[in-house]
Amino acid sequence: MDSASPSTRPLRKAVLPVAGFGTRVLPATKSIPKEMLPVFDRPAIQYVVDEALAAGIEHIIFVTGRNKGAIEDYFDRAVELETALRNKNKTAQLEEVELSVRAPGTMSFVRQQSAQGLGHAVWCARDIVGDEPFAVLLPDMLMMAKPSCLAQMAEAYGKVGGNIIAVEPCEDPSSYGVIDPESREGRLIKMKGMVEKPKKEDAPSNLFISGRYILQPEIFALLESQKPGAGGEIQLTDAMERLMQNQSFHALEYDGRTYDCGDKIGYLRAFAAYALAHEELGPKAAAALHAALAVKRD
Ligand code: G1P
Repeated sequence: MDSASPSTRPLRKAVLPVAGFGTRVLPATKSIPKEMLPVFDRPAIQYVVDEALAAGIEHIIFVTGRNKGAIEDYFDRAVELETALRNKNKTAQLEEVELSVRAPGTMSFVRQQSAQGLGHAVWCARDIVGDEPFAVLLPDMLMMAKPSCLAQMAEAYGKVGGNIIAVEPCEDPSSYGVIDPESREGRLIKMKGMVEKPKKEDAPSNLFISGRYILQPEIFALLESQKPGAGGEIQLTDAMERLMQNQSFHALEYDGRTYDCGDKIGYLRAFAAYALAHEELGPKAAAALHAALAVKRD
């Protein structure tokens, strides 16, 4: 495949790297996975899985690590809890509990045995993905968007094929991957390059790679030979930069807002935003937040 004929093979699988320690939100993540921290009324990971499903993804592959068993349990049946709720006729709660259970065989779990970077985590999913395009969704990043961020990307993919990454403008992109744009048509951007965690003054643009990717399977061979980059880790951005040399690559400035839950203030922002956006409890959440802000401090 070359850039003249970008692949538009159907997108069916998504990889969710969930092996990270969550060191920036300790001590909350000492004994539970950061992906299981609640963002208002559900674990953060539920929003990301819902986003993938809303884009038509059929199979979700979690790249997990030790101490992450709670994620697997969350997407399984909770037989005792379900029985108790059924016996007490708590139908609404029963429905909520059952919502996270997917059809048998549509979720896979593979372990990344040691922390070697995002590129290495994605590479751990190679056998389960096989020879087909796939999405990557970083669960630290919650994307509030309608249609979902990945659905917007899947639509763009249907038109231009190849590889697509979501980007968003920000003031200081130095703690993210950053793209070097060449030209743009609406929200779709052709790129000259990309760089992982540049110094602020060296950043080629203010558009950071916000954690959603549609990639062709040729990325796996590149990841296999990828040398450690920023932070001494195997970086997905570096392998994508190489893939871009001979495959079609676009960035999509998606229509929506990214919440980076990777640190304490970002998590707080996401929690408040999703509480305020809650269909039923949003107005009450707003009143509660106003009241909390109005409390006088000594
Ligand atoms: C990773 C990617 C980076 C991207 C970021 C989004 O960084 O390497 O390109 O911008 O996710 O959250 P990390 O969060 O692993 O430092």
